[in-house]
Amino acid sequence: MDAIRIYGGHCLDGQTSIQGSKNASLPILAATLMINGVCEIENCPEISDVYHMLRLLESLGCRVERDGPCVRVDAGGLAVCDMPSDSVGVMRSSVTLTGALLARTGSVCMEYPGGCVIGARPIDLHLNALRQMGVTVEERDGGFCARVSRLHGAVLKLPFVSVGTTENLILAAVTAEGETVIEPAAREPEIQALCDFLSLAGARITGSGTGRLVIRGVTALRPVRFRVPADRIVAGTYLCACMCAGGRVFLKDAPADQMESVLDCAARMGAGIVRESDGLLVTGREHGWSCGRIVTGCYPAFPTDLQSLFMAVTAASGQAGEIQETVFENRFRIVPELRRMGADITLRGSVAYVKGGCRLHGATVEAQELRGGAALVAASLAAEGAGTVTNRHYIDRGYEDIVQSLRELGADLEPA
Ligand code: UD1
Repeated sequence: MDAIRIYGGHCLDGQTSIQGSKNASLPILAATLMINGVCEIENCPEISDVYHMLRLLESLGCRVERDGPCVRVDAGGLAVCDMPSDSVGVMRSSVTLTGALLARTGSVCMEYPGGCVIGARPIDLHLNALRQMGVTVEERDGGFCARVSRLHGAVLKLPFVSVGTTENLILAAVTAEGETVIEPAAREPEIQALCDFLSLAGARITGSGTGRLVIRGVTALRPVRFRVPADRIVAGTYLCACMCAGGRVFLKDAPADQMESVLDCAARMGAGIVRESDGLLVTGREHGWSCGRIVTGCYPAFPTDLQSLFMAVTAASGQAGEIQETVFENRFRIVPELRRMGADITLRGSVAYVKGGCRLHGATVEAQELRGGAALVAASLAAEGAGTVTNRHYIDRGYEDIVQSLRELGADLEPA
């Protein structure tokens, strides 16, 4: 049952609650291993990436208890040992364990992390900056070992903005000796959530949400209880599903204030968007308008994680549009799949040109990564006839139960 069968042509109607953020909960869970005591993380999404992170924490000697969306991590018994390579291998964010482990134990060996196949995704920025904090890194075939007797603060000038690098360096810096400056720092809301968690635990961080972070090392962090904010990318996904299928959906807890570029684009394409105190009410139009040109970038620009979903909406709308990807070099993997469904898309360098006037029909298409997989499900909702999206496990990395959630909204789909 690693596929989803979708019968297109049903409007959505109803309400769905937006799960906690994947990209916020993963670095926060990594951070719990720096804390001697029990941390309670609420609103943790029940997705396979979180499952793998919890397995990694257990393999390091943490006691992990999960009660639905509430996770308790006790890192009191932390021991240095090998991490299961299957969990490191599937998940890019396992790299954030580097900063946390160096801070707590002074040493870490791991295979190069995996994740979606959307680009080369090297970790040179992470390792180079850690070296400036006193870390010795030995790279060997397929992995690396990093060691430090005591991390020290440094002025870390990065060549460009990287979300994962910023997170890793924050973790390394919060208990390092002296002051660390990270510039340019990523400004993503998930970084702000990590800083909020660490500050609650006693870290001294200024500049959260800006391009320059200044961190004063403290001797230790204390256990805390923290609630993970809602996932702006999941909210954007259900917005796109509604734009593809038509209808009216209330996205409960959707973090509208983190979604400005996405909501602007959706409104430009004809979606009705009403901001309410506890979420977003969205209406998909029967015939959408063009997206114009979308250019992905670092927050607050349009998120690369929603690029393929908006490509699906554009293809489904029958309008022409251009989408430029500037973050990952290989993030157009759904183009051949959308073509199989009847879309006419031309790729030239980093720009995808979607031609107007096409209608989508159901087809068997292959999810090749997380967001692209969700985009194929959204496109299939708009298609004429039935279609199948294979490789569902990619989608399960980031969505709690996309089949059930869409069924509750009136879509006709089932596991296959
Ligand atoms: C994170 C998110 C991912 C999102 C991305 C960009 C998580 C778990 N993942 O990924 O969903 O799409 O931010 O918003 O939070 N790079 C290097 N060397 C490095 C590090 C990065 O060349 O050492 C490059 C990458 O290949 C990429 C670009 O920098 O082209 C941005 O990557 P980065 O911001 O680090 O993304 P991730 O943290 O991997």
